[in-house]
Amino acid sequence: MVIILDFGSQYTYLILKSVQQLNVDCKVVAYDISIQEIQSINPEAIILSGSPYSVLDDEPPLCDSKIFELGIPILGICYGMQVISHYLGGEVVHAKKKEFGYVEIITDGEKELLKGIQTGDVIWMSHSDKIEKIPDGFETFSSTANTTFCAMQNPARKIYAVQFHPEVSHTEKGLLVFRNFIYDICKITPNWTPVTFIEKVSKQIEEEVGDAQVVLGLSGGVDSSVTAVLLHQIIGDKLIPILVDTGLMRKNEVAEIKQIFDGMGIHIDVVDARKSFLENLKGVADPEQKRKIIGRHFIEIFEKEAKKFDNVQFLAQGTLYPDVIESSSSKTKDVPSVVIKSHHNVGGLPEKLNLKLIEPLRELFKYEVRVVGKELGLPDEILYRHPFPGPGLAVRIIGEVTEEKVRLLQEIDWIYIQELKENFYYDRIWQAFAVLLPIQTVGVMGDDRTYENVCALRAVNSLDGMTADWTRIPYQILRKISNRIINEVKGVNRVVYDISSKPPSTIEWE
Ligand code: XMP
Repeated sequence: MVIILDFGSQYTYLILKSVQQLNVDCKVVAYDISIQEIQSINPEAIILSGSPYSVLDDEPPLCDSKIFELGIPILGICYGMQVISHYLGGEVVHAKKKEFGYVEIITDGEKELLKGIQTGDVIWMSHSDKIEKIPDGFETFSSTANTTFCAMQNPARKIYAVQFHPEVSHTEKGLLVFRNFIYDICKITPNWTPVTFIEKVSKQIEEEVGDAQVVLGLSGGVDSSVTAVLLHQIIGDKLIPILVDTGLMRKNEVAEIKQIFDGMGIHIDVVDARKSFLENLKGVADPEQKRKIIGRHFIEIFEKEAKKFDNVQFLAQGTLYPDVIESSSSKTKDVPSVVIKSHHNVGGLPEKLNLKLIEPLRELFKYEVRVVGKELGLPDEILYRHPFPGPGLAVRIIGEVTEEKVRLLQEIDWIYIQELKENFYYDRIWQAFAVLLPIQTVGVMGDDRTYENVCALRAVNSLDGMTADWTRIPYQILRKISNRIINEVKGVNRVVYDISSKPPSTIEWE
């Protein structure tokens, strides 16, 4: 196993993903993990992440300096490289000129860490401090026009570092850096697969749950469905999957999901909470407030439902790694940064939750969840269903949510998705949905003036939802969808198409 010491970088998860992509087990831990804990994990390599902080701050996040004495190979990335310099006698200074974005690397092409990377290859930088002097015993073998020390190593002490970010896709040959470090320098054997994951997680859950019962919030999306089937396989009928009909789901979705799970021999309880969700959302237009209200109400319902069974002690959720990272900057403690959105299955949890959480997919990305789901025998209908956010259509109705707006959006969405499927385009898109805007525009129908709602169509391609590009749906398909929506959904007279990528936009509008 490889461990990543997380100093609060937004990209820590991308380091995890890079290592997992090389089929090596990996875990993110707090930057101040103790030496004893590291020794009990017994990792084959340690990676030090980047950070929004500076080692020159008054109280910078720093790891225990004894990690450099353990003899375990270390790779420092950006701030991680600066931590190494700081501790081992180098010098870090605030750079006069920040280096941010694409840069061409200069390298002698001989050292193992950058094997296969040539001068002129594009790397991605994001740092405002730089190393003025590398520690004694280290050698450098790479620079950029702005940075003298772009990489350094001390092979005798097994310590390596790069100033750039090999984990982001903008560094074209970034994965090669991890490959060189993990396979060639650390000599780690790749043996991590989704099957290993299932085996490991099964053992842990079986032990943790014991005789207790587990309630699970099922939405019918890939994440909660895979969680349900995985848990059902491990603990059987001790799992109680509850599908809360919030009234904010897609048209006919509740009935479809129930039918699919019945077909797999898994009974689900459907709780009709349509009225209370709408009541709770009455008069609320702020996106974060909506998310928090929905998250809280979900939990209230779970707790209430759980009380109907005698021995419920756990709440299972299909939380994925991107949900965790975007909801709380850092997966580990005490490294604050910016909350992008409160994903309802994390951000809305009340402090005093009476049930313990089980989140078996917490360290996986969507594409890995699909591989696990396939292994568990879930039908493609579920596995390749586009992701659907926990707060449902509420975050796709900009402004206040009302019953009428939900009905309108369900009709629009139904036509959109149906057309994508009929034109064999649904499977070529990662996620497609419609958004109802809080504005009316003027139109003309027959000889009459109309003044009705506008909806936006969004379709994106993505690997994990963390970055996304808008999908170039052929015009003829878009034309048909637009015509059908305007002609068939009373109350809509204009359709627009969203051509924003993430970042800087997000996938959902709220
Ligand atoms: P954003 O809008 O953050 O969305 O770019 C990234 C992916 O996450 C989905 N999403 C959610 N999923 N609970 C979820 O389970 C949520 O609260 C939530 N909010 C957004 C979104 O649909 C996209 O796939």
